[in-house]
Amino acid sequence: MCGIIGFIGRDKCIPKIIHGLEALEYRGYDSAGIAYFKDGKIETIKEEGKIANLKKLLNFNEDAYNGIGHTRWATHGEANKTNAHPHTVGKFTIVHNGIIENYSELKNELINKGYKFKSATDTEVACATFDDIYKEEKDILKTLHIASQKFRGSYAFGILCSDDTSTLYAMRNTSPLIVASAAYGNFIASDVPAILEFTNKYILLDDYEIAKIESDKITVYDKDLQVINKKINTFAGTFAAAAKNGYEHFMLKEIHEQDKVFSDTINFYFDGTIDSLEKNFSFLKKFSKIDIVACGSAYHTGLVGKSLIEEYANTPVNVEVASEYRYKKCFYDKNTLVILVSQSGETADTLAALRKAKEDGITTMAIVNVIGSSIAREAEHVIYIKAGCEIAVATTKAYLAQLAIFSLLAIYLGYQNKCIKEDELAKIFTDLEKMPKLIKDTIANYESYFNIADKIYQNKQIFFIGRGIDYALSMEGSLKLKEISYINSVAYQAGELKHGTISLIEKNTPVIAIATDKNLIEKTISNIKEVKARGAYVIYVSNEEPKEDFYDEFIKITKIHPLLESILTIIPLQLLAYKVAKNNKCDIDKPRNLAKSVTVE
Ligand code: AGP
Ligand code: GLU
Repeated sequence: MCGIIGFIGRDKCIPKIIHGLEALEYRGYDSAGIAYFKDGKIETIKEEGKIANLKKLLNFNEDAYNGIGHTRWATHGEANKTNAHPHTVGKFTIVHNGIIENYSELKNELINKGYKFKSATDTEVACATFDDIYKEEKDILKTLHIASQKFRGSYAFGILCSDDTSTLYAMRNTSPLIVASAAYGNFIASDVPAILEFTNKYILLDDYEIAKIESDKITVYDKDLQVINKKINTFAGTFAAAAKNGYEHFMLKEIHEQDKVFSDTINFYFDGTIDSLEKNFSFLKKFSKIDIVACGSAYHTGLVGKSLIEEYANTPVNVEVASEYRYKKCFYDKNTLVILVSQSGETADTLAALRKAKEDGITTMAIVNVIGSSIAREAEHVIYIKAGCEIAVATTKAYLAQLAIFSLLAIYLGYQNKCIKEDELAKIFTDLEKMPKLIKDTIANYESYFNIADKIYQNKQIFFIGRGIDYALSMEGSLKLKEISYINSVAYQAGELKHGTISLIEKNTPVIAIATDKNLIEKTISNIKEVKARGAYVIYVSNEEPKEDFYDEFIKITKIHPLLESILTIIPLQLLAYKVAKNNKCDIDKPRNLAKSVTVE
């Protein structure tokens, strides 16, 4: 799930491995470790908590030239030093991202053969599996190949074997892994930022491939253990782009990038004419039904997408959480398009949902940020958002860019299905042009949202309510708040509150009520009055000035075509969550227990 880096070469490996782990820190982790060969023997050092704790135990000048490092996000066993990676069993030392699903079955077999385990991890079982096969095969590559057929689940491994101290091995299935080369040696890494300081040339390993990496040579084997030629990619961005640029947090920096992200994303597909949309999205025409599948915030953009596509294109849309969709009975057919939404393009459940749809012969389309990620590579059609590198665990700019894509899809399909007429289309196009400035203006108004945050940040729970598209936005506002501030927050359909949840409303309980859909504003106001009558502290978010006194705070959203409005409405909610978390002194960019890219089930 979290970070892997390995280096073999003419330079000392410890400084490079630590630098790589620090570059991956933003993904969230709970322990870190490193292993390397010194005088032909394996040395392993690991520690609970932050990389800084590990660094205190290291000699950066050690004569070590072949090593692996890891930041762990615990899935099997507590986040402690024993469970931290690397793990060693017999001749093998490994780091692992992912989950070996059949680990308990393998563990029992290995215990019967006399193996003893120190940790509670599936990783140590994988390590023992390598050692056990190797005793029989006495050939490292064959061992890895046989093991890959035994493991069920997801893995990216960095592997050292004490019988071959001048080689580093790597293999993957589902969890991402790259191999990169520099003049003085070669790297493995779970993600590009880990190696960017040293090189921008890398190879993407595909599922079941194995890499044998020597100081000056990289050999990649396919799933039949045949040597293959891999394409060398060049990463165009720089690590500096990932720096905070003067902002206190990456999240704040990324919120401020949203006007540019919107323009970059829209301009990539739209040049002011319907023809440009036709050129990019004409394949959508043949589908009469859409399933949108995603996790977390990406799922929430899907809910907004559903509202827009159903309202403006009259096409039915079903939105599902990927971890449910992958195991449920799906009623799709050849007229259904399955849209997967993912910032990272590596979310395990979303990837599994994509694979399921493909296996069933259903057309898939991915809306993804990270270029070349697994979901982007495997989907039949890919629409990239142009959000750039998103570091903060809580997504903001990628979410907004996904909304921009859904707006474009709704515009195109609406026009195709003759629901949007020429004159309305012209109005929408004019409003699209105004958007970057409006996004900028909305962000520039941050102090007024911060003032509201200052009034509510000490509350134990904060509710969000809305109807229709405003409910979809409430869900994202609520997730943003709880994930970074740790304040309990739930989003409710405004009309549903009185069926139970209203009993939680006490004097001064903050209720953030969103009402931008003109057909539903009156209805939502009635629900707001119900909570107000029970003492709620109401923060009213709307594009209409309130005519009555039913609120305590008012956040005005600039009126624009409703196809684009949600893009503006989400911004105050992001900034409100940010300031509440800041006042509570939370680790905003790396909230506890969370990881940026969830590559386990
Ligand atoms: C968002 O702030 C979350 N951290 C999380 O819900 C995220 O959106 C989800 O894990 C999906 O990630 P993806 O877009 O990379 O697939
Ligand atoms: N499943 C492994 C563990 O719990 C790896 C977790 C990770 O990807 O960091 O140790």
